[in-house]
Amino acid sequence: MHEKGEVKEKEEPKPDMATVYIMGKAYEVPSELTIMQAQEYAGYRLMRGVGCRGGFCGACTTIYRKKGDYNLYIDLACQTKVEDGMYLVQIPFVPAEKPKWDLDALEASAEEVISIFPEITRCVSCNSCTEACPQNIEPMRAIQAIRRGDLKKATELSFDCISCGACTVRCPAEITHYHVFQLIRRLYGKYIQPRAEHTAKRVKEIEEGKYDGPMEQLLSLPEDTWKELFIEVRDGNPLELPEGGET
Ligand code: SF4
Ligand code: SF4
Ligand code: FES
Repeated sequence: MHEKGEVKEKEEPKPDMATVYIMGKAYEVPSELTIMQAQEYAGYRLMRGVGCRGGFCGACTTIYRKKGDYNLYIDLACQTKVEDGMYLVQIPFVPAEKPKWDLDALEASAEEVISIFPEITRCVSCNSCTEACPQNIEPMRAIQAIRRGDLKKATELSFDCISCGACTVRCPAEITHYHVFQLIRRLYGKYIQPRAEHTAKRVKEIEEGKYDGPMEQLLSLPEDTWKELFIEVRDGNPLELPEGGET
């Protein structure tokens, strides 16, 4: 492994540089980098623990401490900037067995969710999960909402969960929140959320072939025309095909 920036001992960093400890080794890295960029600058080739690089996939959960601070922090490596004196390690993933369920055979109820994830009844309301969440979700409130049968509230509260597992690492009840939240969102979507009538109508129209003609016409057009049409539609105009067809 190329270890660019590795330093033997802690020195005063140059301006705009920071000394960070990755897996226990000190590296001098530009201080404007994210933790993920700093690891790559230091020569680490990230094979695991990296995905979208945009704060959406939850693959880059990182644990760190800051200089002179006893707190243990958990954040996303792709979203968090390095600080001088930071000790960090990236967690490849948070291990958890994913229970299998058959959505068609389930009911949207607290009892059903608890039968699959009985550990949620062990929540002691410590709120450690909320403190850990890089998405500013409130996992504790979502867990409590499930326990009282309010799956709608739990779905709303956990909608932005990116399954990073930071809450799970902290939870004394050993709840795998991200698996629980995935189940309740599925239950909510299938059994509770009102059907989107306009979507059903459009699907029926497609199945009946209403758009077959315009689609064939569209596919026969040159690429440059597609680009022009895309810009028109992107700007809020209706799609008007060159020969007058309109959808
Ligand atoms: S709820 Fe848990 S798994 Fe989901 S984003 Fe927050 S910390 Fe990550
Ligand atoms: S960390 Fe676990 S026990 Fe604590 S509030 Fe969150 S779900 Fe409950
Ligand atoms: S790489 Fe996807 S959230 Fe960081």
